[in-house]
Amino acid sequence: MDHLRGKKILIAITGGIAAYKIPELIRLFVKSGCEVRAAVTENACKFIQPLTLETLTGHPVLRNEFTLIKESQIPHIEATAWCDILIVAPATGNILGKAASGIADDLVSTLIMATSQKPILFAPAMNSRMYLNPIVKRNIAVLKETGHFFIGPEEGEMACGEEGLGRLVLLTCIVEKVKDIFTEKDLHNNTILISAGPTQEPIDPVRYITNRSSGKMGYAIAKAAKRRGGRVILISGPTRLSIPKEGITLIRVKTALEMEREIYEHYPYSDIVIMAAAVADYRTNRPFPHKLKKSDRVFQLELVRNPDILKSLGGKKETQILVGFAAETENFEKNALQKIKDKNLDLIVVNNVNLPDAGFEVDTNRIMLIDRFGKIRRFPLQSKEDAADAILDKIIKLKKKIRPENHNEKNKRT
Ligand code: CTP
Repeated sequence: MDHLRGKKILIAITGGIAAYKIPELIRLFVKSGCEVRAAVTENACKFIQPLTLETLTGHPVLRNEFTLIKESQIPHIEATAWCDILIVAPATGNILGKAASGIADDLVSTLIMATSQKPILFAPAMNSRMYLNPIVKRNIAVLKETGHFFIGPEEGEMACGEEGLGRLVLLTCIVEKVKDIFTEKDLHNNTILISAGPTQEPIDPVRYITNRSSGKMGYAIAKAAKRRGGRVILISGPTRLSIPKEGITLIRVKTALEMEREIYEHYPYSDIVIMAAAVADYRTNRPFPHKLKKSDRVFQLELVRNPDILKSLGGKKETQILVGFAAETENFEKNALQKIKDKNLDLIVVNNVNLPDAGFEVDTNRIMLIDRFGKIRRFPLQSKEDAADAILDKIIKLKKKIRPENHNEKNKRT
């Protein structure tokens, strides 16, 4: 799912030092397939050259509401009719005050007033003393109440050298927020329990058994499910990844037994359960309490089976939609269909881990989805983010088919 491709973004820049970052923001949107136009206040032009914005957007910059673009085209009306979203970044305390009070005395404030049918996203940036001023807080509260979106500011060093709350958020967070705004909340009121990453089974205090799972696929699903409005609980084995999105409940575990415990805890009230973790099948029965010393003799390690978490979830399934993963190197369909049966799954995601661009560690995947009715769909190489949306699309379709009462009931409550 390409959340941003083809979207028309109007970025209004007001007069703060963070204006120098906006060309990079424009580049990120253009790279995501958006068409971008820029508007500036007179003060913004003291921080940034309109020529830079024109070069990056490929459009003339909107500068003055009293200039007609073409004969009879009034810029603020034409631009707001054109765009899918208006982003005000950086948004100064001044523009927030004007917007909250319904003042339209320059181009950007006029654009804001004229954008009454489309989403507006404000990304405030100012000195923290200004940001924490109760009047600014009140203006933000008024704008939020009116239905406008906000992102940031964040804490950190500001242009004046002071530390505090007032920095423009990371540009990637602005892009992410716009994706959120455009995403249909089709998982609203659903609790989605996801496992990700490998497990680590200790041998002694310094050694363990693990596998090559990076956790990227499970984290991508968690992020996409959150974006689509779900309540997401992510049970993660040890990974190098940080929490994929604000609002996700992240529970870190190490061993398969710890993962099992956490999953059992949240399973009863989950609507969708996705086991993307590469759970180690074996563990040492009792890890050595002290570091093992080497010797010249053959070293034998006795391993016992870990519980098959997914299989036991299948045995306890009530109304949950249960999704498993299968990392295969051969006989894909046959093995996957067998797993659906053995573990009582509704859907299985099959990866060919032989391919260099799919499976472990990489950012792309080539998945095949097989549902419990035997319906198979193969997907071409895609980003793990897109694969995550494809998996969730299929889960939503399946849920409507398998549990229509449950689905309608949830929707009634939304
Ligand atoms: N799984 C699990 N508990 C385990 C092992 C795996 O819950 N102890 C889950 C994984 O999260 C994944 C699916 O089961 O969703 C993988 O199934 P599995 O049969 O273990 O696949 P493989 O690891 O490929 O196993 P096999 O060696 O049998 O092919």
